[in-house]
Amino acid sequence: MNYDVAIIGSGLAGYTVALHLAKTQQVAIFTKRALLEGSSSWAQGGIAAVLDSNDSVEQHLSDTVIAGAGLCDEVASRTILQNGRAAIEWLIATGVPFTQDDQAELGYHLTREGGHSQRRIIHAADATGHAVQVTLEQQIRRHPNITLFEDHYAIDLIRSSKSNMTATTSTEHSPLRCLGLYAQDVRTGTVHTVAAQHTVLATGGVGKVYLYTTNPDTATGDGIAMAWRAGCRIANMEFIQFHPTCLYHPYAKSFLISEAVRGEGGLLKLPVEAGAAAGQRFMPGHDDREELAPRDIVARAIDFEMKKRGLDHVDLDISHKTPEFLKEHFPTIYARCLELGIDISRQPIPVVPAAHYTCGGIITDVNGRTDLAGLYAVGETSYTGLHGANRLASNSLLECLVTGKAVAEHITGQEKLKSPRLPAWDESRVTDADEEVVIAHNWDELRRFMWDYVGIVRTTKRLERAQHRIRLLKEEIDEYYANFRITNHLLELRNLVDVASLIVNSALSRHESRGLHFSRDFPTTLPKALPTVLDPQVPNKAKNSETYRSNSSS
Ligand code: FAD
Ligand code: SIN
Repeated sequence: MNYDVAIIGSGLAGYTVALHLAKTQQVAIFTKRALLEGSSSWAQGGIAAVLDSNDSVEQHLSDTVIAGAGLCDEVASRTILQNGRAAIEWLIATGVPFTQDDQAELGYHLTREGGHSQRRIIHAADATGHAVQVTLEQQIRRHPNITLFEDHYAIDLIRSSKSNMTATTSTEHSPLRCLGLYAQDVRTGTVHTVAAQHTVLATGGVGKVYLYTTNPDTATGDGIAMAWRAGCRIANMEFIQFHPTCLYHPYAKSFLISEAVRGEGGLLKLPVEAGAAAGQRFMPGHDDREELAPRDIVARAIDFEMKKRGLDHVDLDISHKTPEFLKEHFPTIYARCLELGIDISRQPIPVVPAAHYTCGGIITDVNGRTDLAGLYAVGETSYTGLHGANRLASNSLLECLVTGKAVAEHITGQEKLKSPRLPAWDESRVTDADEEVVIAHNWDELRRFMWDYVGIVRTTKRLERAQHRIRLLKEEIDEYYANFRITNHLLELRNLVDVASLIVNSALSRHESRGLHFSRDFPTTLPKALPTVLDPQVPNKAKNSETYRSNSSS
């Protein structure tokens, strides 16, 4: 296989790059399951952008920086936020059916979420991601320059070695270049060698490293792990965002109750199990912004109340709104809860926090360039500096759109290089696995100790325990990988263990509490905010550094 551009991932980030590039380039999209299986099509609340003359980019930036606890890269953030309106106009022109509002300036309803000082979230009821992805999918499927490979799992990137390096070199950080990838057709087991002038990682987040998550099964941090193994630096992995309100129900796996429910007046209350305190609101005792404080604060407040009172959930109550209002604004949430026996117009919704968003990732500039020439990263897998220590709600779909376009424009401006001959995948020394149970067991163990030891509130001792376990798991998995034929589960576990190690090493190196990283051993915030940078050349030594942007690949 040989393409101008190979994109790994079919979420909003991958789609945006593909659609902007396909006018001039032959593009292939590799995705490990069906096209719509990713966080993008699960997104509920909407997309934040400045769409009203009472709002401004400066206000959006200020909200982003406040939520990000001082750790946002202001230059990158401003660039992304300034391009918000154009990105939304592109989606509208493409036909995305956003919820309308005749009274609004642009004609679309804008909702509110935690940390936003203005109503600025454009949405399609409570299923924004699905509306966006389905509309873009139609364009993707009929585009003559886009080839789709569903059920194709990207295993690893292919880098130039000294002997096959025909390409110009590259970055201050790495003298090598990305030449493509190995991808396995999951249905047949065949591993393809894919040559590409440019490779784009758009593989989403890492939610599945935790036992409880709002994320789909695809969120196993594959892009971050592949980039790390290929020599790219990774930043800020300690900042895992826990969404405060995931539905708590034995039959509902990973169902989010959108923050827009609180934006439209939903209140957090103590449940019946709290005895005499049942029905009391608790957010006013934690933050002046009450239910609309940034997510880190709300998630920690819920965690605190649950632990203090021995509760297994709290309640989110929006039953004071009429059934008509709820059905119009939250049709998906209303219907799903009703299916499970919860009528949200009459009773509160039981909720718990769950791992939701990866604020850190592969270090890129605003054009998505990584440390490795020819390799780009975009969307949740990347770290542009927009999200700082805590992402502002609904800023991530925006980032996919704006940086996705910037990646496409940057690639379009590059001259074509001669493709070298790439080595085929070698399976001559492996056999079929004899003990799949080892993989299943290790998956469970990893996700459970990450939840218990590396969750919302951390201590150095628990982090060190997790680090020790990760080391043991890594040895076992590396040995398994070297001796047995690959399977999806093995590949995902291998990536999750790499990602878990990046999260724990980053968390251990931060000697303060900031945004989403809260340590009982370091409860105060240092005066200066610095990102955490992990470098594969010194794998176990995270550095808190402000000069990390000295990369710039060609
Ligand atoms: P994804 O959409 O997750 O796509 C990743 C793709 O990569 C998938 O197609 C996956 O199959 C593929 N992939 C992964 N690994 C491999 C591999 N090894 N080989 C091949 N393919 C691979 N953000 C907002 O801004 N607003 C919201 O309202 C909002 N609501 C959310 C609600 C939920 C329930 C969740 C989970 C997230 C929400 N977010 C929201 C966050 C936002 O949806 C994500 O950050 C964003 O969609 C990420 O897009 P992406 O394209 O980077 O990744
Ligand atoms: C939500 O609808 O609460 C999710 C919004 C987001 O994650 O940005």
